[in-house]
Amino acid sequence: KIVPVILAGGYGERLWPLSRSHSPKPFIDLLNVSHTLFQETVLRFSGLSTCSPIVVCHEDHRFLVAQQLHSLSIQDVSIILEPYGRNTAPAIALAALEAQQKYGEEVLLLVLPADHEIQNVKAFEAAVQQAILLAKENGNLVTFGIRPTRPETGYGYIRCGNDFSVEEFVEKPNLETALGYLASEDYLWNSGMFLFEANRYLDELACYRSDIHQTVCTAYRGRKEDMDFVRIDPDAFLQCSSESIDYAVMEFTKKAKVVPYVGDWSDIGTWDALYDYAEKDDQQNLILGDVIAEDSSHCLIRSESRLVSVLGVSNLVIVETADVVLVMDKDYAQDVKKIVQRVKDSD
Ligand code: GDD
Ligand code: MG
Repeated sequence: KIVPVILAGGYGERLWPLSRSHSPKPFIDLLNVSHTLFQETVLRFSGLSTCSPIVVCHEDHRFLVAQQLHSLSIQDVSIILEPYGRNTAPAIALAALEAQQKYGEEVLLLVLPADHEIQNVKAFEAAVQQAILLAKENGNLVTFGIRPTRPETGYGYIRCGNDFSVEEFVEKPNLETALGYLASEDYLWNSGMFLFEANRYLDELACYRSDIHQTVCTAYRGRKEDMDFVRIDPDAFLQCSSESIDYAVMEFTKKAKVVPYVGDWSDIGTWDALYDYAEKDDQQNLILGDVIAEDSSHCLIRSESRLVSVLGVSNLVIVETADVVLVMDKDYAQDVKKIVQRVKDSD
């Protein structure tokens, strides 16, 4: 049995002003394709025979999740509500405990971040099938690797050996190290998607971060069902350390394996990443919504509530929403957080 686990707890701050705390990145239709990234994630595994998914999200977003699932006519979903974000290691542990309760100790989890774009669904399905074999074989923790195209410092890198083995897992290296990895060709990016048996993940977590394992188990023991929502003990969860699966487990485990995924993939974390990923017009503009662009090129322009018109500009990101307009040089896309911070400070 395979249970998809959808991680939908991130905030996507660098996609401000579209991504906001009340409606973060996974829950917005970033590409104007009539589905949100979260919905696209749910639809991605419809070709695989899986059990109904488990979603882990912040409790503030429970109605967004419920309503977006409802509009896809997807039922029987467990929606685990986190009273506080504690990053992915605890979130996945909660899902593992829930899946075990529903389907038994050795149930397989297919962990999917709710904010990625994947175009080639067939290649994704083939990679998952390969990962299932590896995960069942020796209780391996399987990640999906992507061929790097730039020295990205926001990703994890995997040095690959023979037979899907992981020689080394390095989360978020510095630029110099990332440049070396890019040149060596032995490294793949960690996609942030995983496949493993629930008990194997919990065992490895107990081995390397027994504190997280213990607090999550305590929080889960206080489990209460409330329609499709699963609530946990907030006081216990408050005590939990905040750590990603990458730092807590993947960098240490000897059971890591990697399956390459060969196809388009993007963790659309920034406006320039969205620009790079999406299809542009002849002037290399990415236009989303009601926009007039004249003698302008290499811009991302998104309008939501008004006509946006530009003349004689290049390399800009312009994002118009009902209450905020962002205009920035595309090269500053990583720095949107600085603006978000100033907005928070002024609140
Ligand atoms: N439920 C829940 N709770 N989900 C969370 C939480 C949390 O506290 N924190 C993060 N998530 C979700 C995010 O919504 C996202 O879908 C996913 O988990 C990964 O979190 P990010 O915060 O986006 O991680 P990252 O991008 O820094 O790094 C991870 O992804 C990279 C690829 O996109 C790592 O796995 C890297 O190794 C990897 O390269
Ligand atoms: Mg991410």
